[in-house]
Amino acid sequence: MNKVAAERVNTAYLARMKREGRRITMLTAYDYPTAGMLDRAGIDVILVGDSVGNVVLGYESTIPVTLDDMVHHARAVSRAAQRAMVVADLPFMTYHLSTRDALASAGRLMQQGRAQAVKLEGGREVTEQIRMMVRSGIPVMAHIGLTPQSVYQLGGYRVQGKEAEAAFKLLDDAHAVQEAGAFAMVLECVPAPLARMITEELHIPTIGIGAGPHCDGQVLVTHDMLSLGIGEFTPRFVKKYADLGAEVAQALASFREEVAGGQFPAPEHGFAMPEEELEKLKKGRN
Ligand code: KIV
Repeated sequence: MNKVAAERVNTAYLARMKREGRRITMLTAYDYPTAGMLDRAGIDVILVGDSVGNVVLGYESTIPVTLDDMVHHARAVSRAAQRAMVVADLPFMTYHLSTRDALASAGRLMQQGRAQAVKLEGGREVTEQIRMMVRSGIPVMAHIGLTPQSVYQLGGYRVQGKEAEAAFKLLDDAHAVQEAGAFAMVLECVPAPLARMITEELHIPTIGIGAGPHCDGQVLVTHDMLSLGIGEFTPRFVKKYADLGAEVAQALASFREEVAGGQFPAPEHGFAMPEEELEKLKKGRN
């Protein structure tokens, strides 16, 4: 097993990882215990993703997630992260109306959510917002390719940039967000050769999800890779590293059966009281 450095991960650290050819790991967390486990496992970046909407809040998409939701979850995650960098998503419509709005939203994620960076979706069309935030000292991670906040415009969760024209646009977006000052970018659901081209052309790290093996890092939704949820659908780019959903289901069924059958609680799960006190109690009742 690789030894995990104790140095706190920041933007300079991630840039150094790219220069040295070391792969960056990023996983999602929305709560304190999960973030603590990721941090202790040496995961470099913990993403408080707006996937919280689908994964734990029961929404159909990320669109209903609010800035208040994100602040709440980012705060819990930030309390647990000692080494990992905490990046929080700017949710839908919290950075589109104006650069002033974007700055205020990002400010809340940093000040109240205690995140160390924010992530936003989009390419050239969000470069003004990125510039403004970076000028104000807020590190920004970009996210291009399949951008779930635009799912209704994209017509579903599908691979982006398969045709040359769309691929040119994504290359242009990648350069534009880098130029605007983003310190890294997520490439979601783009063909592996395109992700490779972007990764080789840029000096900032790329972190792929469904973007093949050539990115500088990889991100997954933790609940997906642990099979921890009640959803039926798993995207093909997810590797399942554990089947916690099945284990949890088994444990819940055992609890139900043991309570119904009187096997739980056993004597070792309860508390006794001194005999003489019990006697006094019984006498007092008669
Ligand atoms: O919200 C999220 O979890 C994300 C990842 C899929 C990159 O943006």
